[in-house]
Amino acid sequence: MYLLLLLVFSFVWKLSCQQYVEEVAQACGNLQMFNSETLGPLGGSIERLGLQLLEQLPVGPQQPNVLISPFSISLVLAQLALGAQNETERLLLKSLHGNNISCYHHTMGGLLRHLSHSSLQVATRLYLRQGFDVKLSFLEKSMARYRSSPAHLVSVEDVNQWVEKATNRKIGNFMESIPHNVLLMLINAVHFKGEWLTLFNPSETSKGLFYVDDQNSVSVDMMRSPRYPLRLLHDAELEATVASFPFKGNKSFLVVQPIQGKGNVSSLLPKLNISDLYSRLPAEHTMQVALPKFRLQYRQELQEPLTSLGLGSLFSGPDLSGIMEVPLKVSAVRHASKVELSEEGAEASATTVITAVRSVSFFSLNGPFFFALVDDISLAPLFMGVVTNPAPDDAPTPNEPRDNVSHGAKIVPDATESKGVHKEQGDDPVAADDDLKTDLGPSVAPELNEYVPLPTVEKGRQQFLNGTPGTPESISGENAIPT
Ligand SMILES: *[C@@H]1O[C@H](CO)[C@@H](O)[C@H](O)[C@H]1NC(C)=O
Ligand SMILES: *[C@@H]1O[C@H](CO)[C@@H](O)[C@H](O)[C@H]1NC(C)=O
Ligand SMILES: *[C@@H]1O[C@H](CO)[C@@H](O)[C@H](O)[C@H]1NC(C)=O
Ligand SMILES: *[C@@H]1O[C@H](CO)[C@@H](O)[C@H](O)[C@H]1NC(C)=O
Ligand SMILES: *[C@@H]1O[C@H](CO)[C@@H](O)[C@H](O)[C@H]1NC(C)=O
Ligand SMILES: *[C@@H]1O[C@H](CO)[C@@H](O)[C@H](O)[C@H]1NC(C)=O
Repeated sequence: MYLLLLLVFSFVWKLSCQQYVEEVAQACGNLQMFNSETLGPLGGSIERLGLQLLEQLPVGPQQPNVLISPFSISLVLAQLALGAQNETERLLLKSLHGNNISCYHHTMGGLLRHLSHSSLQVATRLYLRQGFDVKLSFLEKSMARYRSSPAHLVSVEDVNQWVEKATNRKIGNFMESIPHNVLLMLINAVHFKGEWLTLFNPSETSKGLFYVDDQNSVSVDMMRSPRYPLRLLHDAELEATVASFPFKGNKSFLVVQPIQGKGNVSSLLPKLNISDLYSRLPAEHTMQVALPKFRLQYRQELQEPLTSLGLGSLFSGPDLSGIMEVPLKVSAVRHASKVELSEEGAEASATTVITAVRSVSFFSLNGPFFFALVDDISLAPLFMGVVTNPAPDDAPTPNEPRDNVSHGAKIVPDATESKGVHKEQGDDPVAADDDLKTDLGPSVAPELNEYVPLPTVEKGRQQFLNGTPGTPESISGENAIPT
């Protein structure tokens, strides 16, 4: 799995001069321990900003997926705050939800160090137009806290090359041009490459349907595993299924999929709380899973959403007098990100197969979902997003008409094509037909629902849509299959 992302701030010259005044030194020196206790509040603040931004960046037919790195965005805003003063500094810290965190910059620097010791690479840089001087104190603080070293702003090619290198060649041509009036750019790039703790076998990957909405679906590569240790939570309050796929090295891929017919991903966002979900996720349990394989990218100018979040003054008349003598304002905030999910990973872990289990539940991520790539220690979301179509280049096709399938007991024979079978999660394969158990064999069925006579499935689904869903477990197809 690769994730990466990048973000640029650029500043243009403006108005009058202001005197630089030394930031009051804070007594943070003895705060050296960075663990879940000290980093947790910071993780929560990064999450809050990320969720607020996602709410400001709605998905739609033109833009079916949104991917951001709340960590990267928080980092660049934090660096800006190092050089902001008075109201501007207060505003930035408030937007970062950092005004309640003692020694904010110190702690953020600690998170940066903590993450740099893991599968995350973070590069930061400060580009400066030749002939203009940055205040020494800003340089020193940027270096000390955020490891941001200065470089001359020479050409757009030069910047794009740096980005390409820092993102492991995942993001190219980041900027088309750099206007002449840009004096300074704060930039960071985040690159994550993590290996699943439990790998997916590429030979199990096959086409499956992803239900974009009630009417349409797209065909995607589904990574499958007949036995996957997964922490799965059916959250009745959120009306969603929550699952956590661990990577090696204390990072997880958290997905939240609304229960079909109950709200949508957008309506879910305001209710999300990662630390709450983490605390309630049960122990892992071996089950059958299907997870879409995808490669998505996203580019977005963030001025509008940040303005909606109260940072509009950054773009008009901020007090950034801690950075330069010349007055500055922010001209743009660009964000680009890319997320790839694959079976990837060469090593299998000893913890993967639990042979003692008696039941096989089923979790298929085959409808719109929220995801967050979370650092398990700080619970800071490094990446998060909303995916409503993992194959955005393919036009969704109508789901097979339901009228037709309700006449006659057609059994879908081919495990690689689930056409005609409605949303696996949301059906209740076992309750649908108890006799199936004998057909399935000992929990080796590649996909439970493909063996389910369709009319029964339809009936189950209709019942569910009519408001008699049964228990959350049955909604999400978590059911005991004798092994
Ligand atoms: C999540 O809930 C906990 C406990 O109620 C709270 O302390 C924390 O601030 C919440 N986090 C976010 C990001 O809202
Ligand atoms: C801004 O802050 C500095 C100290 O950081 C102070 O000297 C100055 O008067 C403030 N300016 C305004 C307009 O508040
Ligand atoms: C800190 O958080 C508490 C509770 O969330 C809030 O009442 C208080 O105003 C916050 N303090 C600052 C300085 O924002
Ligand atoms: C994961 O976290 C635990 C405790 O928080 C720590 O002991 C362990 O070394 C960490 N593992 C890695 C690979 O960072
Ligand atoms: C999601 O649900 C809310 C109400 O629950 C609705 O207003 C909104 O239009 C829905 N969004 C999408 C993308 O369907
Ligand atoms: C059912 O399928 C047949 C062909 O398989 C098609 O001719 C017919 O129009 C379909 N009926 C409906 C209601 O879609």
